[in-house]
Formats: sequence, structure tokens, C-alpha cells
Amino acid sequence: VRAGRCVVAVDGPSGSGKSTVSRRLAAGIGARYLDTGAMYRAITWAVLRSGVDLTDAEAVAKVAQEVDLRIGTDPQGYGVTADGVSVDAEIRGPEVTQAVSAVAAVPAVRALLVARQQEMIANAGRIVVEGRDIGAVVAPDADLKVYLTASEAARAARRSAEDATDAVVTAADLARRDHLDSTRKTSPLQQASDAVVLDTTELGIDEVVQRLHALLTERGVA
Ligand code: DC
Repeated sequence: VRAGRCVVAVDGPSGSGKSTVSRRLAAGIGARYLDTGAMYRAITWAVLRSGVDLTDAEAVAKVAQEVDLRIGTDPQGYGVTADGVSVDAEIRGPEVTQAVSAVAAVPAVRALLVARQQEMIANAGRIVVEGRDIGAVVAPDADLKVYLTASEAARAARRSAEDATDAVVTAADLARRDHLDSTRKTSPLQQASDAVVLDTTELGIDEVVQRLHALLTERGVA
């Protein structure tokens, strides 16, 4: 273990509060922040731009291998570019959100991104990483693994507030995406056996961040 090293893995379904919690925790402990969902989204944007068939795993993997994907790790604000094009807004749009689960289910895409993520984690030293498979696959030796949950209603309400979309449509789309993300063959959304599980339905974001901070202090890593 390198001096000052601190890796926090934050997993959970959409709308569980992962992004807000992860960014605040990272800023609070002076760590970098990696949004792995944004990486899957940027690859998806490139796949849609290329026009290849989403169900053609080989073609999708080829696009993923060829695109020059870059992502920042500043918890106060990070940019994502694909082949030099800034895609921060596009990767949050409905087309990408609709297609991302299919792209994230392609094993070769996951292998590529997991390797990139592991490299970024090793280089950062202190970093909070959020996603679906971080504690189980990307950083199994993380100093702290967190699994955030929340009721379906709370998650849908948060997402529709973020995206300014209709709550009923959002709830249906969330359920669809969660199902795909949890049932795919290669590293589905999973709770690492040694993860701290927190339900954010009732717990406020500040309280969750405080608890995680306290756990890190207890473990002597923050
Ligand atoms: O967290 P998000 O909604 O931005 O993630 C977008 C999609 O990417 C989500 O539907 C599942 C997938 N994803 C994944 O499979 N593995 C990760 N580590 C992060 C996201």
C-alpha cells in the first residue's frame, strides 16, 4: 500500500445518489473522482455516431477500441471528450441513455474500460470511483466499498428532477435500465460482499457523506 493511497468504490443503481455522494466525498478528502458511467456513455455516443448496429457486439467493440476517449477526474467539474469532441451534454441525452445498457453489456467494451479505469486509479492514488462493478471487479482491493440503494420512487424522482423529464417516463426507463444492468452476463450491477450498504431514501446526502468520511477516518485512510 502506497503512502496516502485511498481508493473508495461507490456502486449502486441509477438515482441512488452515487454521483453527488462520490463528488462531495472526493472533494472533502482531497481525492480525484472518476465517473465510470460517463465512460460507458461516451463510448455509446461514439457507437451511435458511427451508425453501427447496437446488437453487433463485434462492431460496437471496434468503435470502442478506436475512439480516443478522455475524461477528467476533478470532483468540482470534469470534461469528457471523444475524438476531441466535448460530449458532456450529449452523453446525458435520451439517445445515449436509451442505448448505454446495450453497449455496457458487451464484454470487450467492459474489458477495455475496466483496464483504463484501473490505470487511472493506480495513477491517482487517492480517488473515489463510482459505477456498477467497482467494488467487485474494477477495484476489489479498495479501502472502502460502498453500495448505495434507494427506493424506486425516490430514485425516479431524483432522476426526473435532474433531467427535467416526466417522472412516469423516468420511472419506466429506470426500471428497464436497472433490469438490463443487473441481469447482463459480464459483471452486472453487484454488491461486493464487503461493501457498506447505505439506503439513501431517508438518509440525506450530507449524512451519507458524513458517515463515509467517518468510516475512512476510522480506517486511517482520510
Ligand atoms: O451511472 P450512469 O447512469 O451514468 O451509467 C450509465 C450506464 O453505464 C448504466 O446504465 C450502466 C453502465 N455502467 C456500467 O455498466 N458499469 C459501470 N461501472 C458504470 C456504468
